Amino acid sequence: MKKQILVTGGIGYIGSHTVVELIESGFEVIIVDNLSNSSIAALNGIGEITGKSPLFEKLDVCNKSQLRSFFEKHAGIVAIIHFAAFKSVGESVSNPLKYYYNNLVSTINLLHFMKEKDIPYMVFSSSCTVYGQPDELPVSEEAPVKKAMSPYGNTKQVMEEIISDTLASTPSLKAISLRYFNPIGAHPSALIGELPIGIPDNLVPFITQTAIGIRDELKVFGDDYNTPDGSAIRDYLHVVDLAKAHVVALQRLLNKQNKENYEVFNLGTGEGVSVLEAIKSFERATGEKLNYKIVDKRPGDIEKLWGDTSLANKELGWKAEKSLDDAMLTAWKWENYLQKRK
Ligand code: UD1
Repeated sequence: MKKQILVTGGIGYIGSHTVVELIESGFEVIIVDNLSNSSIAALNGIGEITGKSPLFEKLDVCNKSQLRSFFEKHAGIVAIIHFAAFKSVGESVSNPLKYYYNNLVSTINLLHFMKEKDIPYMVFSSSCTVYGQPDELPVSEEAPVKKAMSPYGNTKQVMEEIISDTLASTPSLKAISLRYFNPIGAHPSALIGELPIGIPDNLVPFITQTAIGIRDELKVFGDDYNTPDGSAIRDYLHVVDLAKAHVVALQRLLNKQNKENYEVFNLGTGEGVSVLEAIKSFERATGEKLNYKIVDKRPGDIEKLWGDTSLANKELGWKAEKSLDDAMLTAWKWENYLQKRK
């Protein structure tokens, strides 16, 4: 029987890019997704890019009985890449139970079936949000996990703990958590990309929607941070580089190259970029002029965060390769494609 990789949330932004990289590396992929925050059009995009149609089942990973039938039907799964989760910081503050239920129950269910069905490996989609505002920058995996700044952030912390506790009690299971910094950009084909529903929370979709005329202006949240130009700093990572890291992490588990049952890696570029620099990069890469204005800080935002990625560089042999300008250009191409598709 052919070995299959289950990708939960594989229709979403990072999931769909990872599915493409998995297929292009020769893996057979099964996607489950409840389409709560994604569009099935991404499946066609994956098909067009790769020339292959991965198996897809619309399924909510929180539904244990559906998940049981799924695993009984698909006995060839050897590893899970778990993306399926809610991710809006603001929504998690106004509706924490929605976040705790969805993000935690889905992860618990998957771990339950990994034990029951002898599926040994998981690559988990974690976030730099677990660090809060770190005392030292760049932040390494050794930095303490601080009290989360939002229920969303807390779900990522608790999910990591649930995984590590489960592995400690069941040594046949192995997992790698990947703590992403800020993923941006789109596939160079512009056939898949980020698809915010409603008004985007995140910077780059807001930039591209403003440039194309859906929004009047970008609001830059704060110019009096303790940073060189006063705007907040993040580590923006091209989503294709990020997707490739998942393939490498998966191979590390499958080839038994992991040094511990549970490993954690930061994934970023290692470089901090301010909001104003990000805008300049967009303008340089696309030739578009962006209408923006400085407004007050966004509550709950941290001042600056970028990653020490040397562990991933050394252990995974992975490094972010694509530039910020390239990420902005692909995000722009994707926005244009979306407008034509409408
Ligand atoms: C947040 C979360 C991150 C999560 C991500 C996904 C934290 C610390 N970070 O990232 O874990 O994975 O959301 O949704 O909880 N900005 C503007 N104007 C805008 C939008 C953003 O100036 O209209 C600025 C923000 O103030 C920030 C930067 O752009 O400085 C990036 O913001 P955003 O894309 O929302 O990501 P984070 O808040 O870093």
